[in-house]
Amino acid sequence: MPVITNIEDLKRIYRRRTPRMFYDYCESGSWTEQTFRENSSDFDDLYFRQRVAVDMSNRTTATKMIGQDVAMPVALAPVGLTGMQTADGEIKAAKAAEKFGIPFTLSTMSICSIEDVAEHTTKPFWFQLYTMKDQDYLARLIQRAKDAKCSALVVTLDLQILGQRHKDLKNGLSAPPKPTLANMVNLATKWRWGLGMLGTKRRQFGNIVGHIDDVGDPSSLMAWTAEQFDPALDWSAIEKIKEMWGGPLILKGVMEPEDAVMAANVGADAIVVSNHGGRQLDGALSSIRALDPILQAVGDRVEVHIDSGIRSGQDVLKARAMGAKGTYIGRAYIYGLGAMGEAGVTKALEVIHKELDVSMAFCGHRDINNVGRDILKVPAGFSGDWQ
Ligand SMILES: Cc1cc2nc3c(=O)[nH]c(=O)nc-3n(C[C@H](O)[C@H](O)[C@H](O)COP(=O)(O)O)c2cc1C
Repeated sequence: MPVITNIEDLKRIYRRRTPRMFYDYCESGSWTEQTFRENSSDFDDLYFRQRVAVDMSNRTTATKMIGQDVAMPVALAPVGLTGMQTADGEIKAAKAAEKFGIPFTLSTMSICSIEDVAEHTTKPFWFQLYTMKDQDYLARLIQRAKDAKCSALVVTLDLQILGQRHKDLKNGLSAPPKPTLANMVNLATKWRWGLGMLGTKRRQFGNIVGHIDDVGDPSSLMAWTAEQFDPALDWSAIEKIKEMWGGPLILKGVMEPEDAVMAANVGADAIVVSNHGGRQLDGALSSIRALDPILQAVGDRVEVHIDSGIRSGQDVLKARAMGAKGTYIGRAYIYGLGAMGEAGVTKALEVIHKELDVSMAFCGHRDINNVGRDILKVPAGFSGDWQ
């Protein structure tokens, strides 16, 4: 068992053990990948203020996101095809999150279905909704999330159409992989992954296959998205979804203050400042730079969360200090999952928790709820004086 001290260690093992197509699917951004890169590198421009001779005993990272208790201000982001990263991936990740005391968000494009995840967990999880053209299916999906007792609906607003990720097209991404020569050669070296997949029935989009007619090619994310996702989504559709759902609502993918105000106006409980991990509009600002103007625009009207680029507990602390009430990690937990299944997700969470806790202490705090902007040195113009 290798000694794992950081998220990068998990990523190295993940890369070795996972079929190329799914590693590439995770580890890519759209077009030039500028936004994907800057999401992480922009965190490096924020510095901590080290404090000394401050009592560091009895620390806590426990807080709340949308009124729900969390062991640290981190949730697992919705990630499509998680059950292709490792067999039964969504169930494993949900279990790890539940044990750690943080929310798990199940993607619409998951391999394990809503019902399946509910059956294998004991606490409510969050469900992420992509809006579909088929209104009947959309209504049934929301009802299924209600029936499974999901405790928040996360509606993703930045994927009405799909950003192009070159590697997915070149690899012919599908779930399950097609038996092409290139895939077979690559899969032959991933015996651990293959054994897991042979041992599970969950190999297709669990929320879709069997729940919707006329799916052209259900194995192809790209084809299916183009066919089914609703490019006409607007704020009135979101109001309707809010009404249908009737529970806590999180709107994900907000990058501009005007849109954050609209989200507050429709009565969202929280928004996620997110550029989808740099997978949609390449050339957009990193989320951490986009955060401040949004906070200024909405004040306390809506809880503000953030994702994209978080790879450490220090990133979580910086995001929290900049004013985000909660954060989400996507790739950071997928690395753990692909490396070592449920234990790998737990490891990723432990790593992040420790980095968060220790960094918070060095900055002179014992309670995450007291951390503010004053622990940071933020360079002038960090959030931009854009013309
Ligand atoms: C492989 C992959 C698949 C994703 N699938 C979804 C999805 O199905 N629904 C969604 O709302 N966001 C999806 N996202 C975006 C994540 O929810 C989140 O915004 C992003 O991963 C945050 O960036 P990070 O990976 O740098 O932490 C996906 C991200 C990745 C990396």
